[in-house]
Amino acid sequence: MAGTKTLTMIKPDAVRNGHIGAILNDISAAGFRISAMKLTQLSKADAEAFYAVHSERPFFGELVEFMTSGPIVAAILEKDNAVEDFRTLIGSTNPAEAAEGTIRAKYATSIGENAVHGSDSDENAQIEGDFHFAGREQF
Ligand code: CMP
Repeated sequence: MAGTKTLTMIKPDAVRNGHIGAILNDISAAGFRISAMKLTQLSKADAEAFYAVHSERPFFGELVEFMTSGPIVAAILEKDNAVEDFRTLIGSTNPAEAAEGTIRAKYATSIGENAVHGSDSDENAQIEGDFHFAGREQF
């Protein structure tokens, strides 16, 4: 059975460009409940740990530099079929390929600076949620 949780980050580009409110509105309108949320900034070690699975990719250094370049909003979102439904809401990794109306189509500028993160599996949603939030911060 599909899980009910996913982890999102509103990335530094979208925070800098003033899109926090609009993105949270889209998330709520799509039926997700916010069960944890904070404005925070990743250290280099945080970003390297969060994206460890990408450490051999050519874009890893750029990814870490970008994700530590300013504050982000991290949130745990809850809904039936959360991982898949959220990935549909945000659209393709590359905003040039993201479907019209999706969050990345509306607010992202490039494949690297793509406005939002969404977990890619139920297992990673749990790991990523626990990466950002202590148990007492999850409601
Ligand atoms: P996300 O899905 O949040 O997690 C991995 C991130 O790596 C992805 O978003 C992109 O921001 C980034 N990424 C993926 N492919 C590239 C690429 N070719 N160049 C730069 N960044 C990338």
